[in-house]
Amino acid sequence: MTENPAEPDFWNQRYVAAQTPWDFGGVPAALQRYLAANPGPGQSVLIPGCGPGHEIAAFATAGYAVTAVDFSPPAVAQARRRLGPTLGGAVHFADFFAGEFPHGPFDLVYERTFLCALPIARRPEIVARTRTLLKSGGRLVGLYYYGDKEEGPPFGLEHAEAAALFDGGFELTLDLPVPPHESPALFAGKERWQERRHRA
Ligand SMILES: C[S@@+](CC[C@H](N)C(=O)[O-])C[C@H]1O[C@@H](n2cnc3c(N)ncnc32)[C@H](O)[C@@H]1O
Repeated sequence: MTENPAEPDFWNQRYVAAQTPWDFGGVPAALQRYLAANPGPGQSVLIPGCGPGHEIAAFATAGYAVTAVDFSPPAVAQARRRLGPTLGGAVHFADFFAGEFPHGPFDLVYERTFLCALPIARRPEIVARTRTLLKSGGRLVGLYYYGDKEEGPPFGLEHAEAAALFDGGFELTLDLPVPPHESPALFAGKERWQERRHRA
């Protein structure tokens, strides 16, 4: 048993026990709106820490070439089982911090409850790694948790901290509050939909 969310076992235990309060169980409305405005033919997307991968089919339907990674075997198995053999092939058992992924470098990185799931000390590494995985001018989009930082995961983000983390390598191009009814209870009223563009 580990209580360290940087270790796969932390997540394995929770997936096996079906204790996954972060799981939205579908495609967040903010992502649906984004995909309607930003269709993806000819573009690639990486989903780090994809968990059950609810968003994979939505990206594929919008025309993106999808690569989703997770380092928890039960999460990968669940995602592949749900998606079936064709779309399930987009799900890779891999550590976000290591190696290269199919379809990279990416036009888009989409994340939900990934940055907030890892120890706060790893944030600079997440941002730096994301930059290396994106094309120059590529976009980092997703739902970010601006809630409590203590006793996570999830560990909340603060605006000044986000600026210090991202602004050197990314330009903030969208920052919208997510209506509370669009989030699971754990995140209600504390999520923001953000887009950042990789600075060349
Ligand atoms: C809070 S869950 C979120 C899952 C999914 N994004 C969602 O919204 O349901 C965090 C996920 O990140 C995965 N994860 C954490 N560190 C990782 C790493 N270094 N490489 C790949 N996956 C990682 C965990 O296994 C877990 O599935």
